[in-house]
Amino acid sequence: MAGPRLTRRGLLAGGAATAVGALAASAPEQEPSRTAVSTGAAVEPFHGPHQAGVATVPQSHAVFVGLDLQPGVDREAIVRMMGLLTDDARRLTGGRAALADTEPELAALPARLTVTFGFGPGLFSTAGVERQRPGPVRPLPSFGIDKLEKRWNGGDLLLQICADDGLTLAHALRMIIKDARSFAGVKWVQRGFRRGPGVQAAGSTQRNVMGQLDGTVNPRPGTADFDRAVWVTDGPDWLRGGTTLVLRRIRAEMETWDAADRVAKEFTVGRRLDTGAPLTGRREHDEPDFDRLTPVGFPVIADQAHIRRAHVADPGMRIFRRVYNYDEGLTPDGHADSGLIFASYQADITRQFLPIQRKLAEADLLNEWTTPVGSAVFAIPPGCAPDGWIGETLLS
Ligand code: HEM
Repeated sequence: MAGPRLTRRGLLAGGAATAVGALAASAPEQEPSRTAVSTGAAVEPFHGPHQAGVATVPQSHAVFVGLDLQPGVDREAIVRMMGLLTDDARRLTGGRAALADTEPELAALPARLTVTFGFGPGLFSTAGVERQRPGPVRPLPSFGIDKLEKRWNGGDLLLQICADDGLTLAHALRMIIKDARSFAGVKWVQRGFRRGPGVQAAGSTQRNVMGQLDGTVNPRPGTADFDRAVWVTDGPDWLRGGTTLVLRRIRAEMETWDAADRVAKEFTVGRRLDTGAPLTGRREHDEPDFDRLTPVGFPVIADQAHIRRAHVADPGMRIFRRVYNYDEGLTPDGHADSGLIFASYQADITRQFLPIQRKLAEADLLNEWTTPVGSAVFAIPPGCAPDGWIGETLLS
């Protein structure tokens, strides 16, 4: 285990609202030396105006679960369910066992656990609050690039659980699903990963399974641009302080990607693989010069390069990408099965996400190597106070 100084610095870096040592009182006695300063003891606050898990520095493991409400479940049942699940999330993220937890020891190291809830279109109709559904919270229009598989689409309720430890995540998932089961059935489960804690310097951009630095141009939590891009301020009253999530499962065609050379790979995105710098710059965060031409008069960053097509000039109108990799090993016939769980948060899907996705679907060199296979859309309600529950602004 890393020494206390190193670990503590790692925990506090990157502006995360991380409370270390908050567990001292509840930690089981047999693990005293581990709970004081380890990554495992780190807590992300559950309460506040926004749900955790969006602006939170991304943890290394994530599981996204889409659930469908059971027949017969009505508004009152949904209220009961959200009360129960909020209680579970509140306890588990604080390093405390959920009620009736048969293995409370597994809850003692929360490792920055966050549990984020989302409401899909079906929840609004079932609860009889269809008029409160933000218009764009419905299946996305279909795009020419899509090869969507039913098994990854839709869902009435989203659980997004993230943590810096796989065992913590597994336990939280098990506890919450146990309580959700009498109200909702699991439709799909998507597991994702990023670099582990301490593997790279805090604040650096992660790489995706295709080898690219992914997340360079992204609203930065804690800035006014982030707040404008992500949190709902002028949508339905109940959603203020919340956001929306577009979750796309995008397969990376790793075998043909392997066959492309580096020049082609960099041309496709418009950035270098090693530094992540734009092809017109030297460092990752240099501004791309979209007007620069080669000596023979072609744009250095191609017309159909991913970053040119996806670029949005107004920083407050960008989408916030909190992307995870997935890798399901190999298909039965020995082919790669990996890609991105592309999680995009924005205040307004119609004004922010859709124009970008349309432009990418029309023309993006990257489409040769990426295929959307799943798609789901959720409203992410605001956070709650210690005596509240997630969803109360819509359902109480
Ligand atoms: C597997 C699919 C995808 C891969 C591998 C991928 C990869 C990348 C990479 C390497 C960058 C450059 C570094 C960065 O700024 O993060 C980038 C930028 C970006 N991507 Fe993607 N991307 C994918 C899908 C998408 C989708 C579906 C969208 C939106 C609908 C999107 C929106 C963006 C945006 C907005 C940027 C920043 C553009 C700018 O420079 O202003 N990407 N992506």
